[in-house]
Amino acid sequence: MRIYDIIKKKRDKEELTTEEINFIVEKYTNGEIPDYQMSALLMAIYFNKMNKRETLDLTKAMINSGDIVDLSGINGIKVDKHSTGGVGDTVTLIVGPMVAACGVPFVKMSGRGLGHTGGTLDKLESFRGFRVELDDEELINNANQTNICICSQTANIAPADKKLYALRDVTATVENLSLIASSIMSKKLAIGSNAIILDVKIGSGAFMKKLDDAIELAKAMVDIGQGYGRETIAVISNMDEPLGRAVGNALEVKEAIETLQGNGPEDLLQLSLFIGSKLLVLAKRVETEIEGRELLEQIIKSGAAYDKFKELVKYQEGDISQVENLNLLPKSEYIIQVKSTKSGYVKSLNAEEIGQCALLLGAGRENMESTIDYSSGIILVKKVDDKVEIDETLAEIHCNDMELGKEVEKRLQNIYVIGTRNEEPKKLIYGLVTKDGVELY
Ligand code: URA
Ligand code: CA
Repeated sequence: MRIYDIIKKKRDKEELTTEEINFIVEKYTNGEIPDYQMSALLMAIYFNKMNKRETLDLTKAMINSGDIVDLSGINGIKVDKHSTGGVGDTVTLIVGPMVAACGVPFVKMSGRGLGHTGGTLDKLESFRGFRVELDDEELINNANQTNICICSQTANIAPADKKLYALRDVTATVENLSLIASSIMSKKLAIGSNAIILDVKIGSGAFMKKLDDAIELAKAMVDIGQGYGRETIAVISNMDEPLGRAVGNALEVKEAIETLQGNGPEDLLQLSLFIGSKLLVLAKRVETEIEGRELLEQIIKSGAAYDKFKELVKYQEGDISQVENLNLLPKSEYIIQVKSTKSGYVKSLNAEEIGQCALLLGAGRENMESTIDYSSGIILVKKVDDKVEIDETLAEIHCNDMELGKEVEKRLQNIYVIGTRNEEPKKLIYGLVTKDGVELY
């Protein structure tokens, strides 16, 4: 087999065989295929695409390039959740404890934030002492004792994807459906949970800006998951504005805990109940989503969801006094109130730009070496479709550097677009993609 012939085949719009796909992934990962040939092949794939079978084969080859995390030591049907990335998205921190409190093991290997999107591990590290690096034995032990574990990826997961993604990034070949879907799914499927729900975000703060593109990505990922033998479904949800009101690590953790106590923002609660009830059905804990939702509402009311969050923090050695008393979470020195200069309705609130503001305040990472200011961030007092009066508070900036805070204040004045009421009210959940098809709401 020669890489030249494989490039030529894809250039001429032909289908690659399983053997050819395995060959390229293996030889590229071990350095036997140079970047210039892989770049040419990626560009041919970009233009001529891959079919379903090729995409699944590519995913399998990337999974097999590294370690596979075996979760068979954990009792029960294990569930996982993955978001394609958003701003202020604490759904994992709400859904995880909720389903675990219902007796369903929730095991998630999470990531850190980069650029304008936050990462669950950074949020959890707002607690003093919280340990995200667990070895396999600790992970399995914690999950068997508490039904929940949220930790970092210590194993060597899909190294082929790591190398390919970096190459795609510099050769303008990221934006191909098969390449994106296989990249995301190779990292998910290498970790052995039984059922997965994908939260595909669309809007200003998301990777996908249009509904049609998000549906296609969701379909491609569901096909891969099902093709690999895992129950996989995808929800398509709104990331035109941030989720909830808090953006920033400790602020978001506080919001997640309040939501688990039944006092959270409505959008965050509704998306969490939607995803949580689907997971309970996938795990066969309940038969219908309606039952699932009732159960989740009950465990919020009884305090069991909150207790489970506390248990998660305790088992991963975080300071639970900060869960019991939210005033003990990291706090910033200054709070700036951003006032409206107009009256009207909030028309839009660009999620990516809000994420950039939080990043500027120190809540995020410019690169993987950046350190995080856990206390800083933004509270969106007003959100899209809310009515505002002149001089009313739009947002609060939590910061430790007044100069940066003032700069963000100016930016937020522009990010809040205020005018007449939007004709169509905003939508939180656009649809659901399963192996049976697409359902739009
Ligand atoms: N995220 C990934 O992990 N891979 C892609 O290709 C795009 C987004
Ligand atoms: Ca939030």
